[in-house]
Amino acid sequence: MAPIDPHSYTDSTHPLTTHISLSFYFDFPSSTIFSSALLTLSAPHSGEFTVDTRSLSITAVLDPTTRTPLPFTLQNPNRILGQSLTITLSNHSQFLIISKTSTSSSALQWLSPPQTFNKSFPFVYTQCQAIHARSIFPCQDTPAARIKYSAKLNVPRFLSAVMAAKHVNRRDPVIGETQGACEDSLWCGDGRIVEEFVMEQPVPTYLFAFAVGELGCREVGPRTRVYSEAVPGVLDAAAREFAGTEDMINVGEGLFGGYEWERFDLLVLPPSFPYRGMENPRMTFLTPTVIKGDATGAQVVAHELAHSWTGNLITNKTNDHFWLNEGFTTYAERRIVEAVQGKERAVLNVGIGWRGLVKEMERFKDYLEFTKLKTNQEGVDPDDVYSQVPYEKGFQFLWRIERQIGRPAFDEFLKKYIATFKFQSIDTDIFIDFLKANVPGIENQIDLKVWTEGTGIPPDAMEPVSEIYTKIVSLANEFKIGRMPNEDEVADWGGQEWELYLEHLPKSVEASQVSALDARYRLSESKDYEVKVAFLHLAIASRCSNYYTEVEKTLKEVGRMKYLRPLYTALVQGIGKEEEKIFAMRVFSEAGACYHPIAQGVVEAIFEKHM
Ligand code: BES
Ligand code: ZN
Repeated sequence: MAPIDPHSYTDSTHPLTTHISLSFYFDFPSSTIFSSALLTLSAPHSGEFTVDTRSLSITAVLDPTTRTPLPFTLQNPNRILGQSLTITLSNHSQFLIISKTSTSSSALQWLSPPQTFNKSFPFVYTQCQAIHARSIFPCQDTPAARIKYSAKLNVPRFLSAVMAAKHVNRRDPVIGETQGACEDSLWCGDGRIVEEFVMEQPVPTYLFAFAVGELGCREVGPRTRVYSEAVPGVLDAAAREFAGTEDMINVGEGLFGGYEWERFDLLVLPPSFPYRGMENPRMTFLTPTVIKGDATGAQVVAHELAHSWTGNLITNKTNDHFWLNEGFTTYAERRIVEAVQGKERAVLNVGIGWRGLVKEMERFKDYLEFTKLKTNQEGVDPDDVYSQVPYEKGFQFLWRIERQIGRPAFDEFLKKYIATFKFQSIDTDIFIDFLKANVPGIENQIDLKVWTEGTGIPPDAMEPVSEIYTKIVSLANEFKIGRMPNEDEVADWGGQEWELYLEHLPKSVEASQVSALDARYRLSESKDYEVKVAFLHLAIASRCSNYYTEVEKTLKEVGRMKYLRPLYTALVQGIGKEEEKIFAMRVFSEAGACYHPIAQGVVEAIFEKHM
C-alpha cells in the first residue's frame, strides 16, 4: 500500500472516487445519521479497496445491482486518521456502503433546542476541513480526489436543510429511495420531508457541508442570499453586513476570472461555529461574531469568496501544501479588500497578518517544520498545527513575486494559473514549475527554495509600511514606557486598530497598567470579540485575576477556536499557575459540551500539553 496523502488511508494504486450518491436519515433524538453512500470509481477494481472512516459503524457493504454483501474489514484505528475500511471488490466500479454516525463523529455538531437562539428546534451542522468528512460517511477523504455528489437529506418536516451544493427539491419521501440507509417505513414516516441537492462540479471531500434547523433567509444580491436560524434580528443584521457581497464577487471576477459556482450564499451559524469562516462551495459558513457593523465582516466574506478561485477551483493535493489554499486566498482576499475598502485598509490587514506571522515563529520555535510553506505532516493532526504560517508566509511569498515582476504581470500570471489548474488538486512543485515556466529567470531573482522549503521568515519578506500601522506600533511601544494613547489619538480607531495595538503590547505588563487601560477604554466590555479577547489575553498573561469572570463568560458564549486557543493556553501555560489551571478545567467542564467536537479536541490538546 502506498498512501497518497499522510492524512488518508487512500491507496495510490487504487482508482479514485468520481461520484457519491448519498441518502441521509437524520434522527435528532439520538443525534445519529443513518446513511447509505453509493461510490462510483474512475475505473472498475478488483481486490482490496480502502476508504477512510472515523467514529462510524458500518452496517453492510453491498453490490449495488445484486444487493449481495461484499466482504469488508474495519482496521487500523488511529487517533489522527480514524479507521480504514477495506472492501473486497470483484471488477466493481460501484459499491454501496450502509453506515451510521455516532455522537463522537467529529464533523458534526448537534445542538439541542435550548442550545439554539429560538430554543424551539434542534440544529445540526458540519465542519469537514481538514479531515472530518470521514466521520459522516466513508470516503477517500483526501483533497487529491475530486468528487461530484448527489444527496437526499431526510429531515423532520418542521426543519429545512441547506448544503454546499445546488438545491433541487423539497418534497415528500418516496418508497425505495433510501438505498438501504434505513427502513422505508422510517424514511416515509409521518412528518418527514426530503431535501435534495446535487454538486455538479468535482470538489474535495473537505468541502462537503450541510446544516439542518429552523432556517430563514434574506436576499442580499443577485446570486447571494444569507441564511441563519430564523431570527429576524440576526437575518436583518446579516443582510446589512453583507450587502456589498455582489460588488466583491465582481471584483473577484475581474481579477481572477469568471465565478464558476453559480451562487454565493452565506450561512450564519450559531456562536459555537469553530472558525470565522469556511469556504464551502456555493454556501460559505460564517460565525455570527463577524456581524458587528464594521469593515471586518466583509473582509471575512472576501476571504471565503476568494477561495472560490484559490482552494475550491485549485486545491492543495494534501495538507502538506495547505499554503496553496490559504496563502493564495489571503493574497486574493487582500486584493478584493483593497478594491472595495481602499489601500489603507488592505495594508493594515497586511500589518495584522505580519504580526500574526511573527508570533507563530515563537509558537513553533521548537517545531520548525511548521514554519515552512511545504510541510511534512506525517503523524500530525492538521487541526493541532493550524496556524497563520500558510496564510501569512504564503501571502508574503506571493507579494514578493508581485514586487519582483510588477502588479500587471503578476495579475496576468494569476489569471493564467487559475485557468490552467482549475478543478485540479496540485502540490508546491507543480506551482513552482508553473512559476518558472511563466516567469523565466524568477529563480535567479527570488530564492524559491528558501521560500518554500526553508524555516522561519525569509530575509526578503516585508513588514508593510502604512501611516496608521506605524502610528499604532509606535503608540504600543510607548505603552511599554508607561504612556497610554490619549482620546484624540484613538478617536477614529475601530476594532482592527485596537486589535493591532493590543497585539503589539508586550506579552505581559503590570496588572495596574492593564486595569488603567481598561478603565479608560473599556476594552474588556467591547462588543467586538477580537478586541475583547485580545484584551483578556493580555489580562490573563499579566495575572489580572479580576478579569476571570469576564474570561469565563466569553469562553461560555462563543466557540471560535481563534478565541478558545489563546485564552485557554494563556491560562494553563507556564509554571505556578495552579489556580488558573483549576479555573480553566472547571470552565471547560461546564462549557465544553457547547463547543464543536473539533474545538473540544483542540482544548483537550492544550490541556494535555501543559498539565
Ligand atoms: N478554510 C479556512 C478554515 C479552516 C482551515 C477550517 C483549516 C479547517 C481547517 C477558512 O477559509 C479560513 O481561513 N478562515 C479564517 C478566516 C479568514 C478571514 C482568514 C478563520 O476562520 O479564521
Ligand atoms: Zn481560508
